[in-house]
Amino acid sequence: MKNTSKRVRRCGVVMIEPREALELDLAGLFAGTRAVRASVKLVALAPHVGDEIELDAAEVAALGRVGDTDWVERTVLAEHIPEAVIDSLLAKGILVGDGETDAPMRERDETVRGVHWKPLSAVAHAFSRWHEAGVDEDVRITRHRTLTELIRESGPPPPHVTSRAAPEQRLALPAPRETPIDAILARRATCRNFDTAGMLDLERFGDVLKRVVGCQAEVEILPGTKALKKAHPSGGSLHPLEAYLVVQRVEGIAPGLYHYHVTTHALEPVATLDATALRDFAMRCVAGQDFFADAHALLIITARFERTFWKYRSHPKAYRAIVLEAGHVSQNLYLTATELGMGAFVTAAINEVDIEQAFGLDALRESPLAVLGFGPRAAQKTMLEFDPLGTVWDGTELKAR
Ligand SMILES: Cc1cc2nc3c(=O)[nH]c(=O)nc-3n(C[C@H](O)[C@H](O)[C@H](O)COP(=O)(O)O)c2cc1C
Repeated sequence: MKNTSKRVRRCGVVMIEPREALELDLAGLFAGTRAVRASVKLVALAPHVGDEIELDAAEVAALGRVGDTDWVERTVLAEHIPEAVIDSLLAKGILVGDGETDAPMRERDETVRGVHWKPLSAVAHAFSRWHEAGVDEDVRITRHRTLTELIRESGPPPPHVTSRAAPEQRLALPAPRETPIDAILARRATCRNFDTAGMLDLERFGDVLKRVVGCQAEVEILPGTKALKKAHPSGGSLHPLEAYLVVQRVEGIAPGLYHYHVTTHALEPVATLDATALRDFAMRCVAGQDFFADAHALLIITARFERTFWKYRSHPKAYRAIVLEAGHVSQNLYLTATELGMGAFVTAAINEVDIEQAFGLDALRESPLAVLGFGPRAAQKTMLEFDPLGTVWDGTELKAR
């Protein structure tokens, strides 16, 4: 289809990565010279496009001549840049045009601009999302390699403790006094052994949601502008995090996908799935980690980036603040679940794209940061947990509380 745009500009966010690819060089191998051939390609990372796109040197050079603010007459641009290069960059979405043919890409580009992403953060988030990935296929995740093998391959890890002063210079602190939170902290351990036969009661399910993702107050800070008070801190008090649920075995709630409505402390149904589809989706959420997919409920934490970026526009710290906030939610889940006699987990090995599709999220505006899960533990431990204090397990038996 002929491009109809008369005026063009560069898309709002694009980064070019010169990426080296190593290929087996069969000719070199047989000639006894070299077994591997290296080639460098120029990869454009533009969040509004979604996929990585390869550019050639002429296309990258052309980008140095087109700004992303002002619209330029295509005829003027064509005085410096070959028509074929302009067409190709428009087709790839790296240039956007004002014509009908470019409307879909222009709209996506305007979303990136309108959300006020910092370009580095937008690229980091968009291109670290997984689609249909499994941890078993990821060679960087070392689940099936023993620690001994890992040390043989990579050498020892950096030391587990660091010191910045001589021992005699250290100021000893008073021994901590015990308070009720100590017992909870001591029993906190990532759960990889959920009770797959039993149900989670509705009361504890509700208690967890209220404390971890619910709000304690809704305050009108200016006429028409409200803010939430929650159990965890939030950059700018904007609370951009949302909670979605994969309910698998909770008494009184039909298995399915839900959104948590924060001010009414209620679930909003998104989809009902049959048992097989629900299990498949749970597995997809946690990239095939079946011991996590066994949780009674998965709690997906997403961020509505535009809420925080409304205040912190194109800010270098804004994305980091949101990610840190998700960590606070995770720890609150661990502590709350532990106090209520349950297990909890967090994972960042998640299929963001599959989750976005299932819940109808536009990744440029709202996207998952972590998947958490909770529920009663199994009576017997079959999967490894880190419980050096023996507060959770007595050998392979669950300790009575
Ligand atoms: C951000 C984050 C991501 C994690 N992802 C995984 C994961 O994908 N799979 C897993 O088995 N454990 C995961 N964990 C749990 C850690 O393995 C666990 O915290 C660690 O082994 C220490 O055990 P503990 O939490 O019981 O103290 C994750 C923890 C964090 C904080």
